[in-house]
Amino acid sequence: MTETNWVEWHDAYERPGSGLADRLAAVRAQINRWLDETESKPVKVISACAGDGRDLLGVLARRDDAERVTALLVEYDAGLAARAWEAAEALPAHIEVRQADAAQSEVYTDAVPADLVLLCGIFGNVSDADVRKTIEAAPQLCAAGAEVVWTRHRDEPDLTPAIRAWFAEAGFEEVAFVAPEAELWSVGVHRLVAEPQPHETGGHWFTFTR
Ligand SMILES: C[S@@+](CC[C@H](N)C(=O)[O-])C[C@H]1O[C@@H](n2cnc3c(N)ncnc32)[C@H](O)[C@@H]1O
Repeated sequence: MTETNWVEWHDAYERPGSGLADRLAAVRAQINRWLDETESKPVKVISACAGDGRDLLGVLARRDDAERVTALLVEYDAGLAARAWEAAEALPAHIEVRQADAAQSEVYTDAVPADLVLLCGIFGNVSDADVRKTIEAAPQLCAAGAEVVWTRHRDEPDLTPAIRAWFAEAGFEEVAFVAPEAELWSVGVHRLVAEPQPHETGGHWFTFTR
């Protein structure tokens, strides 16, 4: 579906100095914080373009409350989806890995509304217009008060100021924006403070450009 070999892209997680391991740690820290704050409630998670799922699944593997988590991971690549399944099967959480196009709104029909939405590794690979479209659609995936964790590089021209403004316009407040000066990656977290939107089928939110 895309030109990039996304299995090889994941190898950079193991490469010192790639920045990806630090970005992963920042994403996991936000997932952990959110799980701590939701205490013992059952919660629903959606991860779009989940890759091998190591952000959420890595966190759940180290917690004793994984059982309360129901999650849908949507990933197009068969090999990565298989790796995610393998990691998920070792957990007491209720995880489904769906090998499907995460840009199509109907793929989430049975998983909404979610309490946590992961949009990691998307905004650096799609057009600016598609980043905006995805943010505008995010309230369709969210329960009231849900949080969205997203990532984006800060290569010039840095889109993150616009991304943060688009989240605000879509009814979210900023919970965190982690952007170390010496690094190019960033991790943002936004909480829905407006009303959730009804989930619409037939939407197509983004196309990977590389
Ligand atoms: C940059 S990686 C991010 C993976 C993971 N979220 C992470 O942060 O480690 C992007 C992933 O999106 C997947 N992908 C690209 N287009 C997709 C689509 N339309 N639907 C589902 N997955 C897609 C790729 O196969 C790849 O695994």
